[in-house]
Amino acid sequence: MRIGILGSGLMGSKLGTIWARAGHKVTFSYSRNEQKLEKLAREAGKNAIAGTRARAVKDADALLLAIHWSRLEDVLKQAGNLSGKVIVSCSIPMNKNDSELVVAHTSSGLEELSKRIPKAHVVGAFNTVPSEVLFAVFKNRSRSKRPSLVYCGDSKGKRTAAKLIRDAGFEPVDAGPLQIASYTEPFTLLVAQLAYEGKGGPELAYRFEHFKS
Ligand SMILES: NC(=O)c1ccc[n+]([C@@H]2O[C@H](COP(=O)([O-])OP(=O)(O)OC[C@H]3O[C@@H](n4cnc5c(N)ncnc54)[C@H](OP(=O)(O)O)[C@@H]3O)[C@@H](O)[C@H]2O)c1
Repeated sequence: MRIGILGSGLMGSKLGTIWARAGHKVTFSYSRNEQKLEKLAREAGKNAIAGTRARAVKDADALLLAIHWSRLEDVLKQAGNLSGKVIVSCSIPMNKNDSELVVAHTSSGLEELSKRIPKAHVVGAFNTVPSEVLFAVFKNRSRSKRPSLVYCGDSKGKRTAAKLIRDAGFEPVDAGPLQIASYTEPFTLLVAQLAYEGKGGPELAYRFEHFKS
């Protein structure tokens, strides 16, 4: 696939590199530092280039949205026409100092995004995973027991996203339509808070069970 990375920070740079190394054609875009984009592309190998937002979007089969929520308007302004595109978003709708969700309970960032770009195929994925673990998971991708990754969203977008999730080394778990994001996004906040408590902080264990009626 041709993948445009919108936001080449912790998440965008790691996932973009992983996908380039898995054989996809990747364009890194949206950093304040163009040299950083060039360096990223060099390090990711022959399948990666650095480009503008518009270049990352043009001809892309899928886009990764990996920006701070406060940058959304700015990214959309220069990205060009996103209608019909598959957009995989790991962006969590947080306020500027990352202390609270700005969209929650009755809606979600993912639903708001799909309203902003009505004809795009929006999927939420990777937002439950801290960026630090992405390369370790990718390295172990041939193991039969892979870590699961929950995703939700538009059904056409989900077919593309499932492939990208597998190529990053996870087993995709389809949690349902866009509306499920109003449950998964608050959960990502909890995971992030516990993950960054540091040594001696609480550990999080979670388990999903299937109840037969
Ligand atoms: N980090 C994680 O572990 C993690 C996990 C799950 C979900 N998320 C979510 O994923 C999204 C991206 O997170 P991240 O950690 O990858 O963020 P990040 O490292 O801050 O990356 C954001 C990217 O946006 C770029 N950007 C361009 N213009 C900007 C401006 N004016 N101000 C600020 N940034 C600008 C940054 O540029 P520069 O290259 O110049 O910095 C950077 O490339 C967020 O919504 C976050 O909540 C993160």
